[in-house]
Order: sequence, then C-alpha cells, then structure tokens
Amino acid sequence: MGNGAKGRGRHVTDSGCVARRGTVTNGRSDPTKQESGNTVFLNYSFAVMLQSANIATNAVTENQLKILAIANQKGGSGKTTTAVSLAAALAERGRRVLLVDLDQQGNASTWLGHTDGGEDLLNVFLGMKALASTVRESGVENLSIIPTSRIFAKADLALVTDPDALFVLRREISRFDETAFDYMIFDCPPTLGIVTTNALVAADSVVVPTEPTSLSTTGVANLFETIARLRETHNPELDILGILLCRYDGRTRLTRDIEDKLLTAYADLILPRSIRQNVRIAEAHAFRQPITTYDPTSAASADYRAVAEIVEARAGRED
Ligand SMILES: Nc1ncnc2c1ncn2[C@@H]1O[C@H](COP(=O)(O)OP(=O)(O)O)[C@@H](O)[C@H]1O
Ligand SMILES: [Mg+2]
Repeated sequence: MGNGAKGRGRHVTDSGCVARRGTVTNGRSDPTKQESGNTVFLNYSFAVMLQSANIATNAVTENQLKILAIANQKGGSGKTTTAVSLAAALAERGRRVLLVDLDQQGNASTWLGHTDGGEDLLNVFLGMKALASTVRESGVENLSIIPTSRIFAKADLALVTDPDALFVLRREISRFDETAFDYMIFDCPPTLGIVTTNALVAADSVVVPTEPTSLSTTGVANLFETIARLRETHNPELDILGILLCRYDGRTRLTRDIEDKLLTAYADLILPRSIRQNVRIAEAHAFRQPITTYDPTSAASADYRAVAEIVEARAGRED
C-alpha cells in the first residue's frame, strides 16, 4: 500500500446511512452560521466538510478490520474511558478488538494492567519494530492491547524530520494481519500533534467524546477543522462516527443548555446515546478492569453497550 492510498478494500459504500440519519442541513441547523459569543463556532471549511461528508457510512464486511480513532484534543473529555469501555463492550459482543494506546500518559494501558510498552511503540514509530510484535493480552476475553508509557513522548520529536511522519500507523497497519481483529481502537493523546494525526490518517472513523462543558465544545470545532483538512489531503475516506456526550448529567441546567447548543450546531453528528456520569467508572479504573466486567449492570456499562451497538450498526455489522 502506498502512502496516498489505503488499499485495504475499505472503500466508501454510501450504504444509505445518510438517508437514515438525515444530513446536518436538515433544517435544524445552518452549519455555515457563526454564533459569536457562543461556545460553538463553525467556520467555512468545517461547513463544507459537513455538507460533503457522509456520516459514518463506511460499511465493512465480516472479517474486515474497522479502525476507530477516539479523539478530542481537550484533556478530560472521556477519550480513554470511551476507548477502554467501547473496546470492552465490543469484545463482549464477541468481536476481536485491539486497543492501541497512543497517549504517552498510558491511562488506557494502566487501566488494563500494563505499565510499560512505550519503548516498543516508540520503536514502531521509528520503523524498528513491527506493530504486530507489540500486541499484548489485556486480561479480558477478545480484547488485546498495544500499551504505551512515558517514553513514547519521544515519538513527536523523532518524527519531526521524517517526510512520511503522518503515515507511520497506516503503513504499519498495512503490514499487519488484518484478519486477526474486527476492530482497532486508538486512544489518542490530548493534542492535535503528529501522533493524533497519524491516528486520523489511519482510521476509518472518528468518535469524538466530549464533556458537556463550553471548553470541550470549542475543542470539537477545532478537531473538525483538522478532520476537514485531512479529508482533503491525507484521508478522504475518514468519516465522523459521531460526537459522544460523556459524563452526562441531564439534571443540571448547564448540561441541558450545552446539549441544546451542540444539537443546534452539529445536529445528527451527536450520537443518539450519551454516557451518563457514573462513579463506577473511576472505581473500574482503580480496579484495573473495564466497566463492563467490573460492574456489568452499571448505568455506564449499559451506555457503552448501547454505543457499541451503534458502532456495529454503522460498521454494517448489525445482528
Ligand atoms: N461517565 C463518566 N462518569 C464519571 N466519570 C467519568 C466518566 N467518564 C470519564 N470520567 C472521568 O473523567 C476523567 C477524564 O476521563 P478520561 O476518559 O481519562 O478523559 P481523557 O482521556 O479525554 O483525558 C477521568 O477521571 C474519568 O474517570
Ligand atoms: Mg486519555
């Protein structure tokens, strides 16, 4: 596979998802509108991207790897929680899932019991190690992990002079046995640097977790600008699976206000299921287990299972 083409047979199929979900210009919102003083600010390139983009229509056949990037450059927006919990919920459905921890903080790694791994991943990014050789067990059935740790911070600097710096992950995945997994899920760092861009260049779809606070929603607008640019230059097939509202507490006025603003600005890009604020999440992390095994009957488990179902449906893998 050359750098410019994915060559993985994951071509856009326009499987009718748009007709099912409508478009963002369905009368509920005008994406070209800029709302000054508002938390949400949409610029022209984003509006163009939304109008030209089909939302998460990349259907895949059985045995075809589906790659999801969990991204939002704002820290604390629920990326790691979503990456680990969604991966576990998909694994629970019998899917073979590989979680790739791309954040040097290694929160997803420690969550699943790994404290090292950064050196291996760094060597993958330096072209000195194959991605497949860094896969480890997670202790959860059907779920494997490529862990990371602090030393992976060196990747950014090491790649600065590499002309193919943005294609490292895509290249490595092309060398990977893609029939080994059904899903690859990237937990991205809280920046829009080289590592997150690698994930967006290699992914089929992006899930954007966001807390319902004004700061996080500004982060969503910035990320969408980046996605719009990457669609034009590096990954035309990249689609937005959806914005996932995390730590949702419908009892507070602030949450409801921000949800309304997000719905006005992003309409059908907001996933129809939110993740409720749930204290069991932090406990699950402390006990080194995904929420779905730590407390299978918790509200958060139910929410992430529902999101897994949505992901499966959008990947063309409905039961
Ligand atoms: N649904 C939730 N309910 C309660 N706490 C949550 C929930 N989702 C995330 N958190 C907590 O919020 C914090 C930030 O979440 P995290 O997933 O680490 O965000 P990010 O990876 O974007 O920095 C963590 O302490 C996590 O335990
Ligand atoms: Mg994180």
